[in-house]
Amino acid sequence: MDKFIIKGGRRLEGEVTISGAKNAVVAIIPAVILSDEPCILENVPDISDVSISLCILYEMGARVVYLNRTTVEIDPRGIKGPVVPYELARHMRASYYFLGTLLGKFGRARVAMPGGCYLGDRPIDQHIKAFTALGADCAIDHGMIDITAERLIGAQIYFDKITVGATINAMMAAVKATGLTVIENAAKEPHIVDLANFLNSMGADIMGAGTDVIKIRGVKRLKGASYAIIPDQIEAGTYMVAAAATKGNVLVKNVIPKHLESITAKLAKIGVNVEEFDDSVRISVDGPLVKTSVKTMPHPGFPTDMQPQISTLLCLAEGTSIVTDEIFNNRFRYVDELRRMGANISVDGKVAVIEGVGGLMGAPVTATDLRAGAALIIAGLAASGVTEIDEIHHIERGYENIEQKLQALGACIEKKSIPGSTIPKNAAV
Ligand code: EPU
Repeated sequence: MDKFIIKGGRRLEGEVTISGAKNAVVAIIPAVILSDEPCILENVPDISDVSISLCILYEMGARVVYLNRTTVEIDPRGIKGPVVPYELARHMRASYYFLGTLLGKFGRARVAMPGGCYLGDRPIDQHIKAFTALGADCAIDHGMIDITAERLIGAQIYFDKITVGATINAMMAAVKATGLTVIENAAKEPHIVDLANFLNSMGADIMGAGTDVIKIRGVKRLKGASYAIIPDQIEAGTYMVAAAATKGNVLVKNVIPKHLESITAKLAKIGVNVEEFDDSVRISVDGPLVKTSVKTMPHPGFPTDMQPQISTLLCLAEGTSIVTDEIFNNRFRYVDELRRMGANISVDGKVAVIEGVGGLMGAPVTATDLRAGAALIIAGLAASGVTEIDEIHHIERGYENIEQKLQALGACIEKKSIPGSTIPKNAAV
């Protein structure tokens, strides 16, 4: 079991380069299955969700070759069957993207129910609604989702709720369906646009990605493509908040500032200076941090994936802040961990009331999920004393080389391997 050990209290200073976007690449890797030729993906981050996605493709028969540290060539022609085994799928939420892509390719998909971060209920009814509208039959059988369609036919799909996952799955299943599919109330996240751009570069006909109506005219065949993944909006936001929390001065490079607008706007309200350049932003702090309200919303609103990080920053701000998570109903599990570090936060359902405490103290804490883990790192960097974070495998799902990137900014953080638990078998837990 690995832990991060952080000696807090150092200002972050210098430059950090953002890697490719997790939530784009975990959709784009499965999308390669739709191609009849090899594809080359560039700017692929070295995170465990990518390793699992590539491993799934390899186990299914694809050839997967790294051409350099961030470029992967995938030849999907060896994939003969539509089954993703439980052992691999269970580790990752995004394994459900294999449903759409295998259905589009083979007219059948059998994928284990997805795993991933526990953030409250994460139903897949809207995914099923989309597949059914396109003419598929869906069943859940011994923990596997089984979807079959003799023929996929373009359809009108209206989502009852804005959902990133179901929008992506509907796009993947529809690209080779016969005729026109119109997705209404679609999600507009940057990774939806990135997936559409990738599919279009393979010969798909998708219009409107990035708006709430996406139109897809089915094509018979998709060819190989070479494509660079967009920079990770949430990784960038996390370093921006880390810089602010330590009152540092950091240039965050390889970003698309437009994707960061909602984060930039909130940081400015809190009293953080954000200077925008073409493909970078500089974060600095020269005055007090002050309270604000944050409500997470689908893009272009403030992203739920930045909620734990900004809440941590607000612990360090003057006054009482209110944070509402409109997307997931249980995304405040990290609050108990922050309380160990001296935070004063009360949570009622989807709303957290944060009383600024000025400073945090190092403590042993547990990363309950990916972004919760990122928030605890930020807390540890800003706190006095030593913070030990365990369950860091959650963090490694989505942040490439986080300890090296932070060390380069002057942070005192290291990863330690801790031998297995010594809790006696009969201990009460
Ligand atoms: N929802 C339904 N029915 C569905 C699908 C979703 O009710 O069929 C609900 C969810 O329960 C949730 C809301 O709709 O309340 C939004 O869910 P969405 O489908 O948008 O989320 P997701 O696809 O499960 C992706 C990201 C998450 C990110 C959310 C929201 C991936 C692999 N995951 O999840 O990323 O929080 O969109 O932007 O892309 C993370 O990176 O830390 C992370 C959790």
